[in-house]
Amino acid sequence: ETAVVVAVDGPAGSGKSSVSRQVARRRGYGFLDTGAAYRALAWHALEHGADTSDSTAVLDVLGDFDYAISLDPDDRWVRVGDVDVTAAIREPRVADAVSGVARVPAVRQALTALFRALVAASDLPAVVVEGRDITTVVAPDAPARILLTAAPEVRAARRSAELTSQDAAAVAEALHRRDAADLKVVDFLAAAPGVEVVDSTDLDFDQTVDAVLAVIDRAL
Ligand code: C5P
Repeated sequence: ETAVVVAVDGPAGSGKSSVSRQVARRRGYGFLDTGAAYRALAWHALEHGADTSDSTAVLDVLGDFDYAISLDPDDRWVRVGDVDVTAAIREPRVADAVSGVARVPAVRQALTALFRALVAASDLPAVVVEGRDITTVVAPDAPARILLTAAPEVRAARRSAELTSQDAAAVAEALHRRDAADLKVVDFLAAAPGVEVVDSTDLDFDQTVDAVLAVIDRAL
C-alpha cells in the first residue's frame, strides 16, 4: 500500500520547507523537499562545468545523475553519487543556477517520476511532498493539497533572517529573480481548483503549522 501524499506548494521564502518538515514531524509522516532534488541536479551540473542556461548541456548531465534523499524530517541529507551535498545545495551559486535546470521539460519529467517512486517505496502512512508543482503535476490527486503563500516583503524578510551574512536588499533581489524565472515554468502563486490556500503573512511559524495541520485533518 503506497503512502498518502500531502502536497504543499509555494514560492521561495514562504516558509513551506520548515513548515512542511514540522507538520511531518508532528504527524509521524515522511517529508520530501523536491526543491532539494532540483538543487542537487544544479550542483551536479555545476560540478561538471555545464552551462545551466543551456538545456542540451543540462540534459547531458541528467544521464548520470545518481541521487538519494532522506524522507526523515529529523535527519535531513541529500547525496549525489557518494557526495553529501546537504550544505552545498544551499550555496548562492546553486540557487542562481537552479531555475535554468528546472526549466528543462525532460528534467521535470525525470524528477517527477523519481518523486512518485520515492513515495511509492516508502512504508510510511503519508509523505509531505513540498515544492512548486506538487499540487498540480506531481500529485494532483493527493487528498490534501495546500498552497502556502505570504506577502513578498514578508518572504524576503524571512529569507534574509535565515541568511544573516547577506544584506536584505540583495536577498530580496535574488529571491525576486528566482521566482520570476520559476513562474515562467509553473504558476505557484495561484491555487489550482481544490487547492487550499494558507496565507502566512500574519501568522508566526507555529500558527502556520497549525493551519496546515487543520487542512490535513479535515482531508485525511
Ligand atoms: O524550494 P527551493 O527554493 O529549494 O527550490 C529550488 C528550485 O527548484 C526552485 O527555485 C525551482 O526552480 C525548482 N523547483 C521546481 N519544482 C519543484 C521544486 C523546486 O522547479 N517542485
